[in-house]
Amino acid sequence: MKTLSFATTAYLKRVASAYGYFDEAAREYVVTRPDTPLPWLNYLGQDELFGLCTNTGGGYTFWRDARLRRLTRYPYNGSPYDPGGRYLFIRDGTAVWNPGWKPTKASLDRYECRHGLGYTRITGARGGVEVELLLFVPPGENAELWKTTVRNLGDAAKELTLFSYVEFCLYEALNDMTNFQRTYSIGEVEVEGTGIYHTTEYRERRDHYTLFGCTREIAGFDTSRDVFVGVHNGLHEAAVPLAGAARSSIAHGWNPIGSHQLDLQLGPGEEETFAFVLGYVEQRDGKFERPGVVNKERGRALLERYGREGAVDAAFDSLRSFWLELLSGFQVDCTEPSVRRMVNTWNQYQCLTTFNLSRSASFFETGIGRGIGFRDANQDILGFVHLIPDRARGRILDLASTQLSDGSCFHQYQPLTNQGNTEIGRDFYDDHLWLILSTCAYVKETADTSILDEPVRYADAPDGEETLLHHLETSVAYTLGHLGEHGLPLIGHADWNDCLNLNCFSTDPDESFQTAGDVAGSRAESVMIAGLFLYACRELAGLYRHLERPGDGERLDRLHADMLAVVEEHAWDGDWYLRAYDAAGAPVGSRTCEEGRIFIESQGWCVLGGAGRGNGRARRALESVHEHLLTEHGIVLHQPAYTRYYPELGEISSYPPGYKENAGVFCHNNAWIALGWCLLREGERALECHLAICPSTREDRIETYRGEPYVYAQMIAGPDAATPGEAKNTWLTGTAAWAFVTISQGVLGIRPTYAGLSIDPCIPRAWRSYRVSRRFRGVLYEISVENPDGVCSGVRSLKVDGQEVEGDLVPAPSGKERVQVEVVLG
Ligand code: GLC
Ligand code: GLC
Repeated sequence: MKTLSFATTAYLKRVASAYGYFDEAAREYVVTRPDTPLPWLNYLGQDELFGLCTNTGGGYTFWRDARLRRLTRYPYNGSPYDPGGRYLFIRDGTAVWNPGWKPTKASLDRYECRHGLGYTRITGARGGVEVELLLFVPPGENAELWKTTVRNLGDAAKELTLFSYVEFCLYEALNDMTNFQRTYSIGEVEVEGTGIYHTTEYRERRDHYTLFGCTREIAGFDTSRDVFVGVHNGLHEAAVPLAGAARSSIAHGWNPIGSHQLDLQLGPGEEETFAFVLGYVEQRDGKFERPGVVNKERGRALLERYGREGAVDAAFDSLRSFWLELLSGFQVDCTEPSVRRMVNTWNQYQCLTTFNLSRSASFFETGIGRGIGFRDANQDILGFVHLIPDRARGRILDLASTQLSDGSCFHQYQPLTNQGNTEIGRDFYDDHLWLILSTCAYVKETADTSILDEPVRYADAPDGEETLLHHLETSVAYTLGHLGEHGLPLIGHADWNDCLNLNCFSTDPDESFQTAGDVAGSRAESVMIAGLFLYACRELAGLYRHLERPGDGERLDRLHADMLAVVEEHAWDGDWYLRAYDAAGAPVGSRTCEEGRIFIESQGWCVLGGAGRGNGRARRALESVHEHLLTEHGIVLHQPAYTRYYPELGEISSYPPGYKENAGVFCHNNAWIALGWCLLREGERALECHLAICPSTREDRIETYRGEPYVYAQMIAGPDAATPGEAKNTWLTGTAAWAFVTISQGVLGIRPTYAGLSIDPCIPRAWRSYRVSRRFRGVLYEISVENPDGVCSGVRSLKVDGQEVEGDLVPAPSGKERVQVEVVLG
């Protein structure tokens, strides 16, 4: 690896890893060298226009749907990784360099990338010239701004040429990366002033275009990649920057790009600031100014808006305020830096990202394969609902409308159409139950019970509408109507673990594991769904009591009791809960199995659902997890790993040992164990499990971990893998929501309930105090928790605005915006 001149020892002292550090006050992760172990990603955008942005400016931009409205191009899985993005080429004399290092990788005297909340600021300097590039999407705007500042740090005048660069995607990303016989003939652009208008297919059925413009005067432009880069060149040796002059190329087909040439003269110490604007514009009527010429009125207005003095800075200020206000609803001050960093900034930020993007577009998700997943989105709401409850409400109703009238669900839907699809199969027999969890979380957060009466259609009965509450009941009924021979819920194609496909025997490499089998005749049962069902019954019983329908509450209690009896009778294996019964009736996750003897999911969900209380099994199950599954990288999914392919278990054993669902650390489910420990009042264990997967604890092992140290990963390779400790699938994972639930509600103990905010910490004994501010139903609660006796749980006294209160429930204040809460444990 090339040593960069800025990586001096003095500099490294300040940084927590060789690649960067957390700037807690600024709420930024600061990357201090560009050649990170993998590209480290951030997201731009919070409403409809989104960008993926790595620490070297790589990534792409899309509007709402990464597949159908992709604005710029990003070839996945090539070499090098992260091969396309927002690039500025600086030509100084004959040298050509990029402030973000890529694509030329010319050495820099200084490099810094600050990933912040909805923005990335990249600064690079070379030969006495510093270029700062601030990338963000203003709230409410369908445009990405690139605020650019060029500084002459030296004492002689400089003449510089700057070239901007984006490569357009022809909107439908899958087509764009596969159907070249068509796409190489359809590309079109128009250029007017600084505005490069990407208008492919606008003449026919599209009523939108992409605009790439500049707020400063330009000296030239290019729109043909073949001209700007050269047919036989890589981006690192792009022809136009090397030659030093734009060629005013107009793309006809092939690969349209947008590039501006700017000529800059800067005296010693002088700087100049301007912005590039990458916008998405819809033009449904009046599409043309005159025959064959695109109506650019909105595009011109967009460029003009950000060309005004101060407009870009004002937009950035509004972005900063948006985020600070949003995150101010949950802030913690405690001694554990990883808890502060993640809770105050990164975990909440990741929760908003998973809510917005589900599993669609990341460094690992290409934005073409997966829409919004039913179970994923319901779980994402658990970590998001406190941020923007109204949007959670809308999402819950959208999700419910993709449920079918028998209670089953479309496993995913596309956000542009809200239509469910079966592209990755159906009959995942856990899906419908998650709707109960998200709905109850929403009502607890907001006290808005009106959502339960909202009319929502079933996807197969578009004319009739039932209430949301009806949907929740249908969900319960579906599980009850699909029980197996032990009385446990049937698993269908899979439960939460998509790869445990107990009814889908596949020996054909050309078919999908999830759809290979015959679910109708399948018998396999899931203990994990049983645990989830127990939990859902309790949630719903609580909701009914809140609605003052005790009869329904008792009905749900009985369902809980019945399933509990089945679980205790048929799912206990001696030291832990079984995972499942396979299609032949054989236990999965049992001490009698050759491999895969103990699984994590059923321990988590049985305990959370209330199994094993009063008979010692809950504790025994979690102790078994501790003993057999906890590793230095987190808790692995099962042990021993499967070393050969078991067709009767499905995709799980298709992964090499230690990766993904085959005994990798699947971070998402680690949170269920941490929450289980909270139920058992074991604060040390809970925090240990929570931190075991926490990315910010990985800075000292970052060469092994490789992923971003500021966002949770879906998976960390387990000890059975060839590369233990290596993270994959960062950013878009249910881990974000569950980690937030664990730390905020479980450990810190700040828990929304129907009756109000309850404070019931479960912390390590060594924690002597902490503070939390928590906005709840419009009131900011400033909570201080003291732990003079070094206990782990138990509220000894609770004062609300100086008044002693019984129990751990903070009464709802009348007419106050701020409330002081003092808690003493003991
Ligand atoms: C992926 C899926 C999620 C599933 C998990 C375990 O994260 O998005 O739905 O539960 O894998 O298989
Ligand atoms: C799980 C895996 C995911 C896979 C899916 C279907 O969600 O984590 O990688 O695509 O199952 O096989």
